[in-house]
Amino acid sequence: MNRLTDRLQMIADEIKKGETMADIGTDHGFLPLYLWENGISPSVIMCDISEPSLAKAKAASGAYQFGNELDFRAGDGLKVLKTGEVDAVVIAGMGGLLIRDILADDPAKTFSFKKFILQPRNNAGHLRYWLASNGFNIAKNQLVREGKFICEVITVLTPKAFDMDDLAPQNASPDPGGACWDFPADFFEIHPELASEYAAVKLGIEEKILEGMLKSETVTRDEIETVRGRISYFNKMKNKKV
Ligand SMILES: C[S@@+](CC[C@H](N)C(=O)[O-])C[C@H]1O[C@@H](n2cnc3c(N)ncnc32)[C@H](O)[C@@H]1O
Repeated sequence: MNRLTDRLQMIADEIKKGETMADIGTDHGFLPLYLWENGISPSVIMCDISEPSLAKAKAASGAYQFGNELDFRAGDGLKVLKTGEVDAVVIAGMGGLLIRDILADDPAKTFSFKKFILQPRNNAGHLRYWLASNGFNIAKNQLVREGKFICEVITVLTPKAFDMDDLAPQNASPDPGGACWDFPADFFEIHPELASEYAAVKLGIEEKILEGMLKSETVTRDEIETVRGRISYFNKMKNKKV
């Protein structure tokens, strides 16, 4: 097996030795195969909504006997898993809103897994806001470079004793548009240079948005002020001394 990309390695490092795992949207299956081959996960479940994608994972594991340790399942999101069937679930390389919808589909089942490692390709702020508003514990936010992109990896823990009453806003900021959801300060803990660079990318996007808004006649003063607030936040993060 080839070595993992830095992005997949960062996700793999969030799985502890002995933890079983499922990879939702596995595609090539590289991550679960790595975890199994290296004796980290005693069993892995590779899941994908697309049969052709799952065929890639099967081909990648072709040299192995498929026993109970390597499992392949075709279907949508967590529907293919039984309640509490694995310790950790990875959902990587999908849009943040799709990840949110997969998690929201069956809350009791979602909360039956102890840990999620999420790697949204976009809309990470919306996903974080939803997680925090629904009783999840966002344990870690990390950044990793992949080609010309900087990717986000979010490690999420579910409360040990799940109670439906927990599904209420707890530590969530009242402002879902708040830039703190898009750029949590703990990005700086692991890789400060990458965090500054990422803040500059976010700043550039917001400045372009503001430029467009200032040319438009339909945009309200409040909308402009929201974007100005986001620009000020990303500027602060870009220049943060670490
Ligand atoms: C870009 S690939 C990501 C592959 C791998 N997880 C990674 O991060 O490198 C996205 C995969 O998600 C699968 N997918 C999309 N929606 C899904 C869903 N609702 N349930 C399961 N898999 C899904 C796609 O078929 C595709 O194989």
